[in-house]
Amino acid sequence: MAGSGRIFPAMNPGTTQDSATAYGLRDFVSDVESILDRHPAMPVTIKEVSARLYELCRDPRWLPRSAREPRTECYARHLLHKDRQNRFVVLALVWLPGQATPIHDHSCWGVMGIVENTLQEVVYERLDDGSRPGHAELRELQGGQVSAGSTSYLLPPYHEIHAIGNNGDRTSISIHVYGRDIDEVNVFEPHTNSVRPMRIKYFSPECGGADFAI
Ligand SMILES: [Fe+2]
Repeated sequence: MAGSGRIFPAMNPGTTQDSATAYGLRDFVSDVESILDRHPAMPVTIKEVSARLYELCRDPRWLPRSAREPRTECYARHLLHKDRQNRFVVLALVWLPGQATPIHDHSCWGVMGIVENTLQEVVYERLDDGSRPGHAELRELQGGQVSAGSTSYLLPPYHEIHAIGNNGDRTSISIHVYGRDIDEVNVFEPHTNSVRPMRIKYFSPECGGADFAI
């Protein structure tokens, strides 16, 4: 998920669909492929993928039970789709109450939507130029709740550092689209002005079992 620059209302997808023609993961993947085939500028990609993600999250019956499974050690990170050209991935993240990420980046565009309950997101700005290895200075930009009916986004290089967590009392589920298959992020510690790389993995039965996730 994506460190996002700001939170904005989801756009009207412009379509009305009944249960017989509900918009599902296959439709969403096809739409994202079509968007990326046009090689739009990154802000346009984010805007158009956000509109489709809103539609996908509106009726989440397509999300299988296996991708709704939480983990007690850490929030669960389920891989739903990986583009054959490695242009994007789609994930479902399941958050038990109290589970949260550290402050991290992604080094790619990303969009997050919510299918169950809400998440708290705090966005940070990096103040230093990154020239000192292991050193990073952050400033908190904004924070807010992301809930069903809204999306948030990552737009590097200026809006891509964030922390997400479930500060509610019910399990939350979010859908994330990232512009690359992420196996490593940078984790920031503002109290010590430090940053370090961290490897990340998926957790889902389809991906071979339990792994650490971020
Ligand atoms: Fe993230």
